[in-house]
Amino acid sequence: MTSRRMVLKIGGAAAFVTILGGGAYLHGGGLGKARAPWSQDGTSFGDKRLDALAFAILAPNPHNRQPWMFTLSGADKIIITCDLEKRLPATDPFDRQITIGFGCLLELLEMAAAHMGIATKTVLFPEGQEGAHLDSRPIAEVSFVGAEKWVDDPLFDLVLQRRTSRNVFNDTPVPEDVLAAVLKAETSGRAINLGGTIEPRRVGEIKDLARQGWQIEYETQATRRESIRLMRIGNRAVNENPDGISLGGMAMGAMGASGVLTPKALDRPGSFAFKASLNAYFRLIESARGFVFVTSKDNARTSQIEAGRAWVRLNLRAQDLGLGVQPLSQILQEFPQMAEPFEAVHTMLAPQGGIVQMLGRIGYGPKQDPSPRWPLSAKLYKA
Ligand SMILES: Cc1cc2nc3c(=O)[nH]c(=O)nc-3n(C[C@H](O)[C@H](O)[C@H](O)COP(=O)(O)O)c2cc1C
Repeated sequence: MTSRRMVLKIGGAAAFVTILGGGAYLHGGGLGKARAPWSQDGTSFGDKRLDALAFAILAPNPHNRQPWMFTLSGADKIIITCDLEKRLPATDPFDRQITIGFGCLLELLEMAAAHMGIATKTVLFPEGQEGAHLDSRPIAEVSFVGAEKWVDDPLFDLVLQRRTSRNVFNDTPVPEDVLAAVLKAETSGRAINLGGTIEPRRVGEIKDLARQGWQIEYETQATRRESIRLMRIGNRAVNENPDGISLGGMAMGAMGASGVLTPKALDRPGSFAFKASLNAYFRLIESARGFVFVTSKDNARTSQIEAGRAWVRLNLRAQDLGLGVQPLSQILQEFPQMAEPFEAVHTMLAPQGGIVQMLGRIGYGPKQDPSPRWPLSAKLYKA
């Protein structure tokens, strides 16, 4: 079978302006270490499970916490657990978003295994997981069960190119047929639905709510501090801690060193850094040319996993069509201060009841850099 692994050249001398995590930042070529997991050169890790996991860890996940840990068990099984330290208790009090990230991971894992000609059998929450918070019991056990199934997914080719957009979108409208292609339903028999809109009045209404949500998240001390604590300012910080909210690049490093962009300044209402951060995300919201969303009938853990599976597929399809996508999750968050816009967005997008699991803006914009990742080796427990 011809290998379709792609070598992604990352880094280089050219620095360029991008927007990352809500601000306009200058990126240099110094993030090679943090981006190395995106460079698949076809070298095997010596175990098919690891080869597949190397793709799976590129999954989108909230605040790029990469909460997954893997134990290789026996000859063919992977036990996937949550590193409970990586949860987001303020913005994600019931681990809903963290669980969605595991759905994204599982989808890519199964896709990568299928690409290698290996069928997988996934058992979700094999020991249960019924509490309000995730615990140390497994999220999933995935067995590589042999080669009897051979379903190579065309979306696999896009795994290394997939990005979450953090750029301001340009004025180009999103055509109806592109939206339809991104939302292409594969949801039959599943507990989730995909939706989207490019209708100007509806887009305007969602933008208003998204703005409100961002303002609440940033002006609420606990949720703001959770994000600030996870900011990595400058290339060295990103390379040392390739997760969280990465503000890499020489300019970021310089602003951090000069005291303009520091956790303290970001946390001080009225400071330049505080206002810049607030306004940068407002600009992202404002530039939305449409919205896409994933809803589920209930909020079971398995539905959250399904939502993640659907989201990453939607993200891959958008990538294929040159369309940028960025989740705007603030109004979907379950902390008390968010109750009003949370209710409003549910009335709007899930009028029959149910949960809006993901909401994202769509549009066209500059090419996005790959986001940092821990190497796979950092995510392995010894069996
Ligand atoms: C459940 C979930 C919620 C997310 N919410 C946001 C969000 O509100 N804002 C945002 O910029 N990105 C959001 N993201 C995207 C992540 O920040 C992104 O996946 C992560 O930083 C890794 O970047 P990548 O997708 O480009 O690999 C979310 C992703 C998931 C899975």
